[in-house]
Amino acid sequence: MGIKKYNTDKSKALHQAATPYLLDGVGSSFHINSYRDYAVAMTHGKGSKLYDLDGNEYIDYVLGFGPMLLGHCPDAVDKAVKAQLEKGTHFSAPTEDMRRLAKRLTEIIPSAEVVSFQNSGTEVVMFALRLARAYTGKYKIVKFEGQYHGWSDEEKISIDADSVAELGERAHPNKIIHTKGQRLSSADDLIVLPWNDLACLEKTLQEQGREIAAVIMEPCMCDSGPILPKPDYLKGVRALTQAHGVLLIFDEVITGFRMALGGAQEYYGVTPDISTFAKAIASGYPMGMVAGKREIMECGIHASGTFNGNPVGVAAALATVEELSKPGVYQRFDTLAEQLAGGLRTLAEKYQLKLYLRHVGSIFILYFGFDEDVDDFRDWLQKADTPMYEKFVEGCEDYGVRLTDRRGRLYLSTAHTEEDIQRTLIVADQVLDEIVKGER
Ligand SMILES: Cc1ncc(COP(=O)(O)O)c(C=O)c1O
Repeated sequence: MGIKKYNTDKSKALHQAATPYLLDGVGSSFHINSYRDYAVAMTHGKGSKLYDLDGNEYIDYVLGFGPMLLGHCPDAVDKAVKAQLEKGTHFSAPTEDMRRLAKRLTEIIPSAEVVSFQNSGTEVVMFALRLARAYTGKYKIVKFEGQYHGWSDEEKISIDADSVAELGERAHPNKIIHTKGQRLSSADDLIVLPWNDLACLEKTLQEQGREIAAVIMEPCMCDSGPILPKPDYLKGVRALTQAHGVLLIFDEVITGFRMALGGAQEYYGVTPDISTFAKAIASGYPMGMVAGKREIMECGIHASGTFNGNPVGVAAALATVEELSKPGVYQRFDTLAEQLAGGLRTLAEKYQLKLYLRHVGSIFILYFGFDEDVDDFRDWLQKADTPMYEKFVEGCEDYGVRLTDRRGRLYLSTAHTEEDIQRTLIVADQVLDEIVKGER
């Protein structure tokens, strides 16, 4: 490939034209990145590729922040959605497809005896917390520092930090409120702990278990600093929560369908009481799901919401699950991820860089500054070379490879190919060369 730096002037002009009317010129504040004062605007996508306003082509590892597990415009999903559009887009009534989808999901997700559909990750986590409180009659929730569960007042606590000092004492971390406007009381019923530390959780459950409704966690920490669970940590958490009459909620908004068809709970063989799914469940259509044990799900809490069970989302989810159920899908992710990791490892040696590379299913983790597993968010924060990662992401975007800003998490799709990986490695080589020479 001719490796040429992209010109994105049209995106810049669009940003300037949009900001007088559109807040920050973007649809979500996550679209704003740390290295450019405008976001590159896209016109269309197909498979693993996205195309911007200037006509540049990108290999996309952002994949809409995760949902596009089948790539952009997957034929099977497009076909199902088009067929649904002919029949109607929103009924506020049960459908036969909704029953079929619910049944299929209870077959593939270990914790799912009963499911309920909503529209986003933020909403499903909100519902899961309410269910846990209703079922147990208790109000406190344990959550972990660095873990993101959505952007409601209670969810957006201790999701990130600039330094370990900001996190406070390890045994009693600060509860960090992230934006102006969040009620100061948002964190009153939360207990924040470091993740991957069984002793710390055990002590908390011993001391406060009678007040704690649930422990919520990403089973593999994907948001903020991506971190893998220590061997037997999840099994330990499961045993401890059971022993103390506390529910275990897995937030599988990212890991769901990406790590395995049955999510991280299938991948790690640990079954929570409640789990939440969104993102990849419907290939880019707004859809979310809470799944759990019958007696918890049926404890008498209404799941209201105008668009819940929307037939377009249901059609997309049915087609998505069918595609993902085909043989070989998850093995293919492993093959591609191995190729990418192998190539990047060679580059790390060439440029003498510490590069952390791991992959679980279709989730690929890449970060600079360390190469051994990190234990928790504090550990990650101390070791992660964020400026280096940001330079790398910016450089890759300049040459047509789109990565997640800051978080070190790349998503693969069923549409990615060996050629994509090869091209990505050529770009990575170029960008690392520029960084090492001080040109970036
Ligand atoms: C683990 C996790 N939970 C919940 C959410 C919130 O999902 P949504 O953005 O769909 O509201 C996210 C979003 O990134 C997430 O990563």
